[in-house]
Amino acid sequence: MRTPLIAGNWKMNGSRASVKELLNGVVAGITEVKRAAVAVCVPYIYIPEVASRLQGTPVAWGAQNVSTESKGAYTGEIAAAMLMDFGCRYVIVGHSERRTLYAETDAGVAKKYGMVTAAGMTPIFCLGETLEERERGVTEQVVTRQLKAVIDMHGVKALQVGVIAYEPVWAIGTGKTATPQQAQAVHAYIRGRIAEYDKTVAAAVLIQYGGSMNAQNAEELLAMPDIDGGLIGGASLKADDFLTICKAANR
Ligand code: PGA
Repeated sequence: MRTPLIAGNWKMNGSRASVKELLNGVVAGITEVKRAAVAVCVPYIYIPEVASRLQGTPVAWGAQNVSTESKGAYTGEIAAAMLMDFGCRYVIVGHSERRTLYAETDAGVAKKYGMVTAAGMTPIFCLGETLEERERGVTEQVVTRQLKAVIDMHGVKALQVGVIAYEPVWAIGTGKTATPQQAQAVHAYIRGRIAEYDKTVAAAVLIQYGGSMNAQNAEELLAMPDIDGGLIGGASLKADDFLTICKAANR
């Protein structure tokens, strides 16, 4: 039985004051979350404060990106070991905003995946098609290509220590969620591709859905057999909404 993971992706939002308030709200309601594991992936600069607030609570924390390199002359970058040093459990890699706005490649994302696992953390590995790709009917080819980049570089067993987040790009931040059936179909497809390499890994790997998941639609998405939690952007910035999503996985 897979334990769902609900992870907040705060993106580039917040202030010291709002972070404090948001965390207090999440921690106050967390005992009502019975089944899902819960995490927040926050802007780098807030990690020390988030770590000290969440230490000893059931809420884990993580980052939204990491360097492809381990140390040295890479101005402005943050290494995986630094994140580990601050107790991060999760690191998002390959988010579509990084792929499109910062030109991250499949190979670069796969390299980051390896940096995160080597440091002892769990990558939340994002993949998903754009609207144009969906309309062209190449969703399966796109997610296969993105998935294969990690498998080719690290082997299928590397997926055992990661989490996959299927995020159709057209659903991110648009309020346009994939229907539970649309999402389930791609999740099942991804799991099937992994099963071609290793059935045990395929059965165990968490595949989250991301893209306008919110307090209203979480329950029906999370009820699908291959949807193992969510990566939540906008709705993770309000404690009540985020907790409602976490509780939607209680059944
Ligand atoms: P959204 O973002 O929930 O605001 O659509 C999800 C994500 O980008 O991870």
